[in-house]
Amino acid sequence: MHVINVKNYEEMSEKATDILVHRIHSLEKPVLGLATGSTPEGLYQRLIEEYEQGAISFKHVTTFNLDEYVGLEQNDSNSYYQFMNEKLFRHVDIAMERIHIPNGAALDLGKECDAYEHAIKQAGGIDIQLLGIGANGHIGFNEPGTPFSSKTDIVDLEKTTIQANARFFHSIEEVPTQAVSMGIETIMNSKEILLLVSGEAKADAMAKLLAGGVSEDFPASILNNHANVTVIVDEAALADPKQK
Ligand code: PGA
Repeated sequence: MHVINVKNYEEMSEKATDILVHRIHSLEKPVLGLATGSTPEGLYQRLIEEYEQGAISFKHVTTFNLDEYVGLEQNDSNSYYQFMNEKLFRHVDIAMERIHIPNGAALDLGKECDAYEHAIKQAGGIDIQLLGIGANGHIGFNEPGTPFSSKTDIVDLEKTTIQANARFFHSIEEVPTQAVSMGIETIMNSKEILLLVSGEAKADAMAKLLAGGVSEDFPASILNNHANVTVIVDEAALADPKQK
């Protein structure tokens, strides 16, 4: 695991942008794994700026997002489909047919999960997967206890995850309790992984990750077994939680 220490959220976003811009330039048909949440917003803003300045194009880019809430239609303002559209896709020249986000409102969710796995394979696998980390160590929506062998599936969200994500909804009751998430094995099959970690709310998780053990009780720990992981972490997320 290659760890890059940065000062703050802005610097984390800048470094991540440099890496993704480089991959978009160097790969003929880049397949990007993307994430939602507060962590990648600064990165997406900067990618839009790079596009507007003519430095990059998304014409040949294919994307696969990590997850989507079960039960939310694509046009629901809280769906991750809308999040990605607002934060990135509608501002750049990406082709609609190359955007992939699980459909959490599919009538047959099992079939949707299988089709998602198939689509990733068809695209030749994910070149670089962007990840955030949950305070509980989740990656995607794979909560503690998820088998490392998991593929894209319907998952139950932990209470702490529902509480953490309630900030995006009018009330906590509106937060879906399930999601479709790319599996841990699916994530691990990516050729490269870029994990972004910012803020003191992630300090405990970061300390556990750096401790190095690998356990299904802490999903992100599996990243210690991947050959090509870069972690960009800011000072607040590196603060020793015991010192607080
Ligand atoms: P966040 O979410 O970027 O909003 O902190 C990360 C995650 O839960 O994986």
